[in-house]
Amino acid sequence: MYKKLALASLSLFGAARAQQVGKETTETHPKMTWKQCTGTGGTSCTSKSGSITLDSNWRWAHVTGGYTNCYTDNTWNTTSCADGATCAKNCAIEGADYSGTYGITAGSDALTLKFVTKGSYSTNIGSRTYLMASDTKYQMFNLIGKEFTFDVDVSKLPCGLNGALYFVEMAEDGGLSKYSGNKAGAKYGTGYCDAQCPHDIKWLNGEANSDGWVPSDNDKNAGSGKYGSCCPEMDIWEANSISTAYTPHPCSVSGQTRCTGTDCGDANERYNGVCDKDGCDFNSYRMGVKDFYGPGMTIDTTKKFTVVTQFIGSGSSLSDIKRFYVQNGKTIANSESTIPGVTGSSITEEFCNQQKTVFGDTSSFKAKGGLNAMGASLARGHVLVMSLWDDHAVNMLWLDSTYPTDKDPSTPGVGRGTCATDSGKPEDVESKSPDAAVVYSNIRFGPIGSTFTAL
Ligand SMILES: *[C@@H]1O[C@H](CO)[C@@H](O)[C@H](O)[C@H]1NC(C)=O
Repeated sequence: MYKKLALASLSLFGAARAQQVGKETTETHPKMTWKQCTGTGGTSCTSKSGSITLDSNWRWAHVTGGYTNCYTDNTWNTTSCADGATCAKNCAIEGADYSGTYGITAGSDALTLKFVTKGSYSTNIGSRTYLMASDTKYQMFNLIGKEFTFDVDVSKLPCGLNGALYFVEMAEDGGLSKYSGNKAGAKYGTGYCDAQCPHDIKWLNGEANSDGWVPSDNDKNAGSGKYGSCCPEMDIWEANSISTAYTPHPCSVSGQTRCTGTDCGDANERYNGVCDKDGCDFNSYRMGVKDFYGPGMTIDTTKKFTVVTQFIGSGSSLSDIKRFYVQNGKTIANSESTIPGVTGSSITEEFCNQQKTVFGDTSSFKAKGGLNAMGASLARGHVLVMSLWDDHAVNMLWLDSTYPTDKDPSTPGVGRGTCATDSGKPEDVESKSPDAAVVYSNIRFGPIGSTFTAL
């Protein structure tokens, strides 16, 4: 919920054309099948052939037709990128060597994202990928009245990492038709947005986000531009082997929206922006059940399990977001809140209101329209994101530790997991756990009750 997407990308010397398209490496999307289900109990599902694309931020950006970098480490070349529009004209983004450079492998119905990958020219940290319907279009999902199910292996994700599977209201073509400066589109992973209104997006609205770019002081691959990229976000899954949360984040804007100034909700203007950055989260540990999710617990994170999320509602109205797990052939209901004054095991408007009151949190969720606004956004269509990241802002402590760190973990809302308050520092996790990885597989989607058997 305090997520800042830190993209780790490459200091490739290589060539890529930013918003133009490069010709050095052919873009070949790794194939990944998923299932569309009907009926009940997961017995009538049809396999769909999909593929994966890598977000444009990770791609090598070079002067068109040459090998000069447009972006190196965390800075733009001010000659080719004197301003954002000129930069998009001069530069191209390249096709990706998915496994060799980025540690991304897909096979059959599974996708594996490896944390640290040492390539020939660079070291890559984490990745963000999107499910495609065709070579040039993202797969669009309307989750209302539906159930989204997948298997996940988080056993190799320590404190500080976040294997995230979520939905954002991106454009189907990545903004290609809307912005003439964008020649790359969804094929090259353009058009990202989320409810944190991230400023680290390099290519935005057909331009480079190079104006006013400030290199990060603790991330050698990232920086922050003048513009942020906002849109509603439904986090189905943010997790490592210690903690997990699912979280709707409504916004007052529809679709991918470039922000500046107050609208971005930066720093002390957090609650004045267009999106609900906190969201209304359900993290079983934070909701009082400390032996539900983790190694050897009710949901044993040392082994693969199934995550089911149901979006109860119809049309554009959403009333409840329910969670089930399946492991060892057994269906396990989500944990019930044991926090006095907060009831339930799912995300309803009442749960969110109670939780914000009892935890003393600002209800930006309600202020941005709550489940109503989230439902309206989901009905407009969302893109599926699968990523792996570490957190250069707050070390993922909001997910898996005591946060804020100076508060007593026994205060309701403060304890979120058992990770130490000094854990999760990117320099530590990158050096100590380079082989960390997440595996997403067996994605199923269909009406409520169609994707799994409640045994
Ligand atoms: C920046 O781009 C210009 C023009 O393409 C090029 O001549 C120069 O070598 C580049 N500088 C760096 C540091 O790459």
